[in-house]
Amino acid sequence: MARKSQIIEATPAAISRVTVRVHPEVRRHRLNRNLYGHFAEHIGRCVERGIWVGDHKEIENEGGIRLDTVELLARLELPVLRWPGGCFADNYHWQDGIGPREGRKQRHNLWWNQSEDCQFGTDEFMRFCKLIGTEPYFCANVGSGTVQEAASWVEYCNSAQDTTITRQRRENGQEAPYGVKYWGVGNENWGCGGSMRPEYYADLYRQYATYMRQTAGPGCSFIASGSHAGIPDWEERFLDTMKGALHLVDYLAIHIYSAGGISDIAFKTEDYYRLIGQISIMDRYLKKTIGLARAYSWYGHPIGVVLDEWGTWYKEAVVESGMYQDSTMMDGLFAAASFHCFHEHGEDLAMTNMAQTVNVLQALKLTKGKQAIATPTYHVYDLFKPHRDGWLVASETLGAKRLSLPDAPERDSLSVSCSVNDEGSELFISLVNLDHAEAVQGALLLRDGVPWKLAEATQLGGMDLHSHNTFEEPQVVRPMKLIGVDIKALELPMASITTLRFEKG
Ligand code: AHR
Repeated sequence: MARKSQIIEATPAAISRVTVRVHPEVRRHRLNRNLYGHFAEHIGRCVERGIWVGDHKEIENEGGIRLDTVELLARLELPVLRWPGGCFADNYHWQDGIGPREGRKQRHNLWWNQSEDCQFGTDEFMRFCKLIGTEPYFCANVGSGTVQEAASWVEYCNSAQDTTITRQRRENGQEAPYGVKYWGVGNENWGCGGSMRPEYYADLYRQYATYMRQTAGPGCSFIASGSHAGIPDWEERFLDTMKGALHLVDYLAIHIYSAGGISDIAFKTEDYYRLIGQISIMDRYLKKTIGLARAYSWYGHPIGVVLDEWGTWYKEAVVESGMYQDSTMMDGLFAAASFHCFHEHGEDLAMTNMAQTVNVLQALKLTKGKQAIATPTYHVYDLFKPHRDGWLVASETLGAKRLSLPDAPERDSLSVSCSVNDEGSELFISLVNLDHAEAVQGALLLRDGVPWKLAEATQLGGMDLHSHNTFEEPQVVRPMKLIGVDIKALELPMASITTLRFEKG
């Protein structure tokens, strides 16, 4: 669908003029594709019905896996997907979910207060990953499991030897090892993962990671459970206790949710600015964790940081609602500006996993029976694909209006991020106009003297912040191709996301 580039609902008086200077020749750091990872937990209707429909006759599926979910997520080419939790991970015993389906255990999903039939287990998850073309990231049970159990999960997935456990994998239809690279050692072990002290968790981590790593062989990464901005000393105490065994920690994972107390659809403009202000909390907490990880990397082994749970968590998302919330253009803008923040940290930030793929929290996709819709956040993931694996390049924004934000420092209303691909043959620019009411007219100056040719321009939004897709109207918020774009007078409507892809002329 093409639309002529135009400023929507803005009078000339409500336009600010901004200059964006881009230096494609000044490469800062690489943007790891895993910055665009995701997360699927056994909560509410995320896995059950969102991904897995079992023997449901009316919803198209392949061996129980919902095909409209496969189609939507495959398009996003998600680089990595975390599973099975979250809090559920420290409540999950992987052996309950393998083998003939009729023999699977029926369990209580403790934190999300629902029954778990274990029909979607390791082999089903791996099949799903293959169908959507993503890398799995497993989170092992430390809170209520055993070292033996965690190590034998690694063995089931990764070992090529002939053992009783790998024979089970073969009997279950998978001859070759899966080669799962990313292994989380527990989740939120300061809370739902066992209410531990960081020193106690560190001791357990040493034990678990020793056996898991030895079983996994080379090339696998082990991820320690960090905390959130509300527990200031967890990471430091954990890392300190790990001294002498820091080689066992490849990444430290933190979680940051935003929007607490705000409503998903019935929010006020002030709530929107409060949410945007919370990006600076992520920024601060990332800086702090990265600083610590760097300091402890001095002991001889590099420790990276991952943000393996993030996104909006509105007041409507509670256990009783299965953590379901609606998703508006506000979420799209929050996601886009957050990715720009993650790009800035891309030298040390190795992965992020938004919570969660389907029907839970800041979902990519919502379902109702047979129906399925993509959210504005889905479109942001899709639009930003060209940034993945690119090099962040220098840019400066001059003359942008400053937004004042409740309980946060003010910031430019226009957020910009620019990357070039490895070969330097493509330049990709994303521009987010965070102002809910004012359009921006941007003059783009590409300073490297290369005759860049605009190959594609796309825009999402430019409409009321509350705009969202519904099962009745699934296409209210969708990207539009722009035609007739003048990069010296770029028209960036209020509350909009614009992406520009240039090729070397
Ligand atoms: O994503 C929902 C929950 O939030 C996760 O299970 C838990 O890790 C976090 O507290």
